Amino acid sequence: MRSVRVPVDTLVEKLRTHPASAFEKTEAIRTLPLEMPVEEASLAPYLTWNRQHYTRNLIDKSDLYELLAICWEAGQSSSIHNHRDQMCWMAAPTGRLVVENFCVQFQDIAAGKCRLEASNTVDLTPENPCAVDPREPVHWVVNPRAANQRAVTLHFYSRPFDTCVVYSPEQGACGDIRLHYNTCTGNQ
Ligand code: SIN
Repeated sequence: MRSVRVPVDTLVEKLRTHPASAFEKTEAIRTLPLEMPVEEASLAPYLTWNRQHYTRNLIDKSDLYELLAICWEAGQSSSIHNHRDQMCWMAAPTGRLVVENFCVQFQDIAAGKCRLEASNTVDLTPENPCAVDPREPVHWVVNPRAANQRAVTLHFYSRPFDTCVVYSPEQGACGDIRLHYNTCTGNQ
């Protein structure tokens, strides 16, 4: 049975009650968006759109985690990236996206070289929130053009991080990038 949708503020209140230990394993936070799916209308203050690039909008941040709303136009995707050894959970209040995971066979970040192999894909939908596997953390998120709809995803990162490694499997290249928020409407 699907739970009743709640305003995002209610999810944030609940998130803040979690101890540090809850952010160290995947299960407690992965099931939270199923127990408390978020009402799309309550996300309106956090949503911004850019036809060139998906947008990262901060909803809440503490020493333990940051919660972002990411807005994807049809056809937009992230880079193939890691999460700096931090945990990540994703939920899709709006849209049907795909997360493709990669296996890193070799990487030398200082030299900017890598070899990646595509591993598996996971559907990221309102019914199926997911967690990044800490053993295989390299992935990208795609809002397929064929879906022909905007998508809004919630990303829980623990702990917060502001750089990551991006990868180009075709070129065998990788390197650090800095991450930015497009908006910081929420609590910091
Ligand atoms: C991002 O945080 O910019 C990309 C989305 C993700 O994989 O969490």
